Amino acid sequence: MGRKSKDKVKEKKAKHKAQLAQISAAQAKVNAANALDDPLSPFTAFQRYYRNGLEIDVTCCKVTSVNEETMDWVFNLTKRNMETLYESSEWGWRDKDKKEELNEEAAWYLMCKDKDGKDCAFVHFRFDLEEECEVLYLYEVQMEKEVRRKGLGRFLVTVMSLMAKKYELQKVVCTVFQHNHDSMAFFKEKCRFEVDETSPDAMVDLDEPICYQILSKRISPAVVPLKPLQPQANAATANS
Ligand SMILES: CC(C)(COP(=O)(O)OP(=O)(O)OC[C@H]1O[C@@H](n2cnc3c(N)ncnc32)[C@H](O)[C@@H]1OP(=O)(O)O)[C@@H](O)C(=O)NCCC(=O)NCCS
Repeated sequence: MGRKSKDKVKEKKAKHKAQLAQISAAQAKVNAANALDDPLSPFTAFQRYYRNGLEIDVTCCKVTSVNEETMDWVFNLTKRNMETLYESSEWGWRDKDKKEELNEEAAWYLMCKDKDGKDCAFVHFRFDLEEECEVLYLYEVQMEKEVRRKGLGRFLVTVMSLMAKKYELQKVVCTVFQHNHDSMAFFKEKCRFEVDETSPDAMVDLDEPICYQILSKRISPAVVPLKPLQPQANAATANS
């Protein structure tokens, strides 16, 4: 084997090793975030939203700490807000699937109560790896009608961005139906999310339109793709 090809193998191995190290560092960040008792606790100023006629208290917990009655409300609100949108997509709506997703062990919740102690909005989110990148994934932002268009949604997404920054995650990501125009306007215009590089429509020229887009807000600079190591100066002359 010539020197050049030996170098190539070395380069490939080094690149692979660096990639594995990158993934394991990303996984460590996700694990550390998931091990927290209350990721909202450092953000005391963000545990209440007293603006535009609303008096909302915000708490954060894992799904395992949410009682059954509240989880029923979480499901019912999601169904009321989303069923028609799901039904008019190729995904369709199934109570069982949504209940399972909302109750998965990895689920975290921001819960909002109004001044009478009534649940009025929630965020379902997860600390996760997405395409080898550590992210905060927004699964649901759901609000009762009475509390909408008063800045609360944007406030909650801001809390998510602050958490992502504090826990050293790279992006806040969400999936939005193309035909959910209010939500698209909310994420793109109000919260300054952009089409993520992993969104199907960003990756390929599609023959048929896809019913959703993956949107994201970058928190930390993108990890620079690992460049192959430069061959040594004398490598070209050292062929055998
Ligand atoms: C989408 C949602 C989370 C936004 O929360 P919110 O508290 O109402 O949003 P904010 O008040 O912070 O921001 C409002 C902005 O969002 C967009 N928006 C939200 N609802 C809208 C509507 N019905 N029509 C047009 N724009 C809308 C607009 O850009 C609006 O800005 P404006 O009020 O200055 O015009 C909330 O309306 C909701 O729960 N909707 C139903 C469930 C849903 O679709 N969730 C998202 C699933 S991905």
